[in-house]
Amino acid sequence: MKRRKFSGLLALGAGAMSMPALPAGEATGQDAEQAAGQNEEQEGEVVAVCVKDYKELARETLPPATYDYITTGSEDEVTLRENVEAFRRIRLLPPLLEGVSQANLTATVLGEEIAQPVLLAPVAGLRMFHPEGALAAARAAAAAKTIVAVSTSAGSSVEEVAAAAAGPKWFQLYCPKDRAVTRRLVERVSEAGYRAIVVTVDLGERKDADRRNRFSVPKEMLLKHLVDVGHTQLNAQMTYQELLDFNDEAWDLSLSWEFFDWLRSITDLPILLKGVLRPDDALRAVSIGLDGVVVSNHGGRRLDGVPSSIEVLGKIVEVVGDRAEVLLDGGVRRGADVFKALALGARAVLIGRPYAWALAADGQRGVRSVLRLLEEELENAMIASGCRNLAAVQPDLLQSSSVP
Ligand SMILES: Cc1cc2nc3c(=O)[nH]c(=O)nc-3n(C[C@H](O)[C@H](O)[C@H](O)COP(=O)(O)O)c2cc1C
Repeated sequence: MKRRKFSGLLALGAGAMSMPALPAGEATGQDAEQAAGQNEEQEGEVVAVCVKDYKELARETLPPATYDYITTGSEDEVTLRENVEAFRRIRLLPPLLEGVSQANLTATVLGEEIAQPVLLAPVAGLRMFHPEGALAAARAAAAAKTIVAVSTSAGSSVEEVAAAAAGPKWFQLYCPKDRAVTRRLVERVSEAGYRAIVVTVDLGERKDADRRNRFSVPKEMLLKHLVDVGHTQLNAQMTYQELLDFNDEAWDLSLSWEFFDWLRSITDLPILLKGVLRPDDALRAVSIGLDGVVVSNHGGRRLDGVPSSIEVLGKIVEVVGDRAEVLLDGGVRRGADVFKALALGARAVLIGRPYAWALAADGQRGVRSVLRLLEEELENAMIASGCRNLAAVQPDLLQSSSVP
């Protein structure tokens, strides 16, 4: 069997089922360059048929430290593992003979109709994974008719992402200490047509792998990021250390609930709170009039030892009721995971690493493909469980003894 080279495999994927094939295990960056343009089909190849395949492709493509930045979690990675494992422990219990052969995956999130209940979560530094970064992600989300939540730290300005794709976009806010900068940023988000603001409050990653790898954002990207946010006084003459020092001081890590009164006073956009794990926090978010909560532990990247998001979802849905929308992220790797989250009351889920890996492996096409794979898997789970639409995805389709 001939050995497939990486970029050749990607080219083949385009012609076949828009699924890039997995590298044969030995491909190197040099191989990839030599193989550019090669697209003849060869036997024995494996195509990316699931999220895990994209993880493998990303590992082959990226410098190890960048791959680790995406993939690893904080400290002992207990929460990172639990995010995935807790989904696995929940069992589906489908009824037979429901006469369903097609399922409608259309969802409505904050009044927006989308083709499937899977959104792209805010992910920082997308340009480190692929030159097109957030632009490619936004285009893929638009093609999939779903929402992309663009990180404050995505690596492209809110206007650049808006110009790249017309699909529905949310903006994820990390709050600059300088409230004049925050205010202007929120105004720009609104002017650029974003439809909601997601405020992430569980920020501050602390990952052994990144420290061991001395992982850092290149100077040019850090400068662009800070200027994009609104720190327009910064310039390329500054040293890298000066920019790092500025960045260390730039963000408000001491937000409290009062912040939302202020944010509400400066924008009419719907506001979601991301990073919720406790029912009392969810209740408070609802009581101050927020439009939604994202049950999330930042993909196990912040505080290790907190529970998986799927484990706490049910209780949060219970207290929130229909007063706000409850979304979830963390550990979604299969359409069946989406099904489980929906059955437990989430309106939709977001994915982080799955699309970051796919972006690294195959740019916009990879992200589009990962969304399609999850859509197909969810559709399969729905049909097998007799669900014609998302409203039919109810808790009784899960084995109750396996539900946390
Ligand atoms: C590389 C990477 C960067 C991230 N950057 C951000 C960010 O800038 N803002 C944010 O709110 N969450 C960020 N997150 C967390 C995601 O939004 C999401 O909560 C998490 O990835 C979900 O878990 P999953 O990766 O298992 O899907 C990041 C996650 C990853 C993997």
